[in-house]
Amino acid sequence: MAGLRYPEVRIKEGLASRDSLPGGFVMRAGAGRGRPTTIDHAREETAFERTVRTYPVAILFGGCALLVTAYAWALGYRTVLAAGLVALVAALLLSAMLDPVLVIWLRWRSVLGDADLVANATGIPDVHAVWPTTDGVKVRFSGLAVAPSDVFAAEEAIAAGFGYSAAVIEERRGLVRTTRRRYVMTLTRKDGLVEAFDLGDEMRNRFTINGSRIVMGRDKSMGWVEWDPLGTPGHVAVAGATRSGKSVLTYGMLAQLAPMRDVVVVGVDPTGILAKPWGADWWASGTADMTRAADLLEREVAEMDSRNGELANLGVDKIGSVSPEVPLRVIVFEEFAGIVKAAEMQDRKVRQRIELALARLVAEGAKAAIRVILLTQRASAKVVDTDARSNFAVRITLRVEDGESVRMLHPDLDQSWVDAVKKYTNGVGIVDIPGFPTRKFRAVYIGPREYEKYLVAVGVGRDLAFARGGVLDRYKSEQGGVGA
Ligand SMILES: Nc1ncnc2c1ncn2[C@@H]1O[C@H](COP(=O)(O)OP(=O)(O)OP(=O)(O)O)[C@@H](O)[C@H]1O
Ligand SMILES: [Mg+2]
Repeated sequence: MAGLRYPEVRIKEGLASRDSLPGGFVMRAGAGRGRPTTIDHAREETAFERTVRTYPVAILFGGCALLVTAYAWALGYRTVLAAGLVALVAALLLSAMLDPVLVIWLRWRSVLGDADLVANATGIPDVHAVWPTTDGVKVRFSGLAVAPSDVFAAEEAIAAGFGYSAAVIEERRGLVRTTRRRYVMTLTRKDGLVEAFDLGDEMRNRFTINGSRIVMGRDKSMGWVEWDPLGTPGHVAVAGATRSGKSVLTYGMLAQLAPMRDVVVVGVDPTGILAKPWGADWWASGTADMTRAADLLEREVAEMDSRNGELANLGVDKIGSVSPEVPLRVIVFEEFAGIVKAAEMQDRKVRQRIELALARLVAEGAKAAIRVILLTQRASAKVVDTDARSNFAVRITLRVEDGESVRMLHPDLDQSWVDAVKKYTNGVGIVDIPGFPTRKFRAVYIGPREYEKYLVAVGVGRDLAFARGGVLDRYKSEQGGVGA
C-alpha cells in the first residue's frame, strides 16, 4: 500500500490508530478493556471538497448551463445562447432551494466528526430527513450511543460547521426506533440570542388579556417565547445575578399588561424603581414600612379567598376568562430576598405575614385569576420554600454565578446548559414554560433608555386601560385600599 496516505483518525476515547484503513471503520481491541472498539475516522475536508459539497447543484447545473452558453456564444447560436442563459438562472434558483438541504447530507459526517459527535461503537449519528424552513433547515437525526448532553453541547459547533448562526437541538420521542435517541435540529441564519430586540407597537396596545399572550423573548431559532397568563395555571419565577436583566424583562412584560382593561398589576418593590409608574395605591414600594407590603398582600389574599368562595358557590373550578369587573390580578415581587430581609429587620411578624401571603397566593391563586411574578437573585429554598417553588410553572433563569443556582429552578437540566447559563450576557437565559422543552432565550428588551421607556409605556398604557373601561379597581382603591 505504498504511497497511500492514511486518513487521520479521530476517536472519542484516546485510542488513536494510524493503521486504520481508509474508507471505513476499523475494529480494534479496546485498550485494556478487551472489547472491540470501532474507530470512526473523519478525514479533514479539503477546501475543494467543502465547496463542491456546499454548492452541488449550483456547480453541476450552473456549470453545464455555463458551458452551453459559452459554446453557443463561441459559435454564434443565438437561440441556444438565450436558452443557456435561462438555464443558468434556473440553475441558480434551483441551487438556492436544494443546496441548503443537500449540504447537510453531503457534509454531515465531516461536520459531526469535527463537532466530536462520534460514538465509539456506532460512529456518527444518522440523518433521516432534511427539509428547508424560511430561515434555514431542519434536520431529523438519531444516535445510538451518543449522550444527549454531548449532542446539546455540540449545537454551536454544528451550526458553525454548516455555516449557520444558530442550532437548536431537541430530543423527540416516537420518530425512529425505540432503541435510538431521536433529535430534531433547527439551523437558522439568525441567532435569537445575539441581538437585543424590541416589541412592535401592536404588542404594546392590546385590549384584553383574554386570548392574549405576553411576549417574554425570542429563542435561539427566532421563535417567540410567550406566556399565556390565563391559560397557564401557575406563576412566574425569574432568577438571575445582579445586572442579569430581571428588571428589564419585567419592564417588557408589564408594559404589555398595562394597556389591558382587564388586568390589575400590583406589587411589592423595595427599590421603588419598578413601582414608580403604577402609583402608591397599587404598589408597596421602599423599605421604610414593610407592614404596607404585608397589608397589600393580605388584601390580595382576601380577594383571592372571596373569588374562590364564589367559584365554589357557582360550582366552577376556575376563572376561565376575565373582565374589568373580575380582572386578572398580577402581583409582582421585585427582589424577593430583599423584601424578606427588609421585613425581618422591621419585625419578624411582618416577615411571616409576607411569606404566608406569598405561600397562599401561589398555592391557591391560579384558579382565581391571580398570577405572581417573583424576581430574585437566587431561588434557593432559603428564599422561596420548596413547596411554594413547585407552584411556579414558568421558570426563567438569566445569568447566574454558579450551577447550583440554575438547578434551583431547573433541576433536571443538563450540565452543558448549566455551563452555558453562567456565561450569558444581560437578558439571555433559559426558560421553562409548560408544554415546551427548556429553551435558551433572549428576553424582550424595551429599548435603550429602558427606564424612561418603561415609565412612558406604563403611563400611556394605564391611561389607555382607563379609557377602555378598566376603571373598577381604581375606584375600589380610591375608596380605601392600602394607599398612604
Ligand atoms: N434583554 C436585554 N437586552 C439587552 N440588554 C439588556 C437586556 N436586559 C437587560 N439588559 C441590560 O442589562 C442591564 C441590567 O439589567 P437589569 O437592571 O434588569 O438587571 P437586574 O437583574 O434587575 O439586576 P439587579 O438584580 O441588580 O436589579 C440593563 O441596564 C440593560 O442595559
Ligand atoms: Mg433589578
